[in-house]
Amino acid sequence: MKLHFTDEQNMMRKMVQDFAKTEIEPVIEKMEQGEFPRAILDKMGQLGLMGIPIPEEYGGAGMDFTSYIIAIHELSKVSATVGVILSVHTSVGTNPILYYGNEQQKQHYVPKLASGEYLGAFCLTEPGSGSDAASLKTRAVLKGNHYVLNGSKVFITNGGEADVYIVFASTSPAAGSKGISAFIVEKGTKGFIIGKDEHKMGLSGSRTVQITLEDCLVPAENLLGEEGHGFKIALGNLDVGRIGIAAQSLGIAEAALEKSVEYAAGRHQFCKPISAQQGIGFKLADMATSVEASKLLLYQAASLRQKGIPCGKEASMAKLFASRTAMDVSTEAIQVFGGYGYTKEYPVERYFRDAKICEIYEGTSEIQRMVISKYLTS
Ligand code: CAA
Repeated sequence: MKLHFTDEQNMMRKMVQDFAKTEIEPVIEKMEQGEFPRAILDKMGQLGLMGIPIPEEYGGAGMDFTSYIIAIHELSKVSATVGVILSVHTSVGTNPILYYGNEQQKQHYVPKLASGEYLGAFCLTEPGSGSDAASLKTRAVLKGNHYVLNGSKVFITNGGEADVYIVFASTSPAAGSKGISAFIVEKGTKGFIIGKDEHKMGLSGSRTVQITLEDCLVPAENLLGEEGHGFKIALGNLDVGRIGIAAQSLGIAEAALEKSVEYAAGRHQFCKPISAQQGIGFKLADMATSVEASKLLLYQAASLRQKGIPCGKEASMAKLFASRTAMDVSTEAIQVFGGYGYTKEYPVERYFRDAKICEIYEGTSEIQRMVISKYLTS
């Protein structure tokens, strides 16, 4: 199977590669020190990258889904931090409003998100509910023309920096997953308290915060979809989000592979390049094969999504395989670089630290296997 990309998609790839090289590469070190790449996001907004698959009538670039996935793939090859910020902003920060919002909500929020004026985030996970997302405890009670939200959320990517948050809370705890509702909450809303920014192993320039909802007053018109439809909104958007994380994983793996091939060709031991030593040559061959397989799974899921064909199984397979590949290939890259790979002089240790989270967020690898096996057996 040969992947085929349209001229428009090839142009997107080239544009993002150039942007990543000239604009992102020079600020990697600052992001590694913890700086959030606000200026980069502003430039991405000007280039239309903050709303790639969003229809033009809602202020987006109106491009296809594969172009969006190409952008995350290429951005993540240089910076997985920028890759995840864009993926969360688009697939779980903006899309829920585009797909489930009423016309007024869409007109009000989507153009601002698609232009990059607003940044989006997604608040599902809680201290006691990660993989078992339906067991969330945050409550929303309708009082007059406001919902009053109480609870806490953790590991919120883009939290604190984002302007708009899709927040999940139970309006009817007795109904379990069918009692969960989704709300659009703006930063600055009374009782919406941004807490601690996690000190993470990788993705150092991205924000991952705790959020407390303390009698948080959300206007009733900010209910997204109907009461009780929140769980389907969450999972439906995560299906798409997982393709984005697969693209991020592939970017990391491909970068680790390319750096390894280059290094192994230039590093001589026992009078020849280490790439000519079978131990390293075979390693590179395995790394390249996994990267290629990830690419096929990723772009297959993306093309199904683009055609509107249900792709929950393929999205989970792509995320499962590509995130494992990112971890394996970045681990092997450090081995190829030897002692140098363990230092911050080379980027492979950063790829290794950034790769691990891809096996955890937007559904752990164990959850992806649950989803895939359910498709196979039901
Ligand atoms: N799309 C739409 N609806 C879906 C769905 C999907 N993909 N999967 C399930 N549903 C529906 C089901 O049809 C069912 O509804 P009906 O009863 O009407 O048929 C309902 O949801 C409940 O389904 P299940 O009984 O299968 O749900 P469950 O409680 O067993 O959980 C799960 C299923 C797959 C394990 C789910 O809880 C899950 O995906 N967990 C992982 C959570 C996750 O991915 N968190 C990521 C947080 S966000 C993040 O990480 C972003 C970031 O910062 C990068």
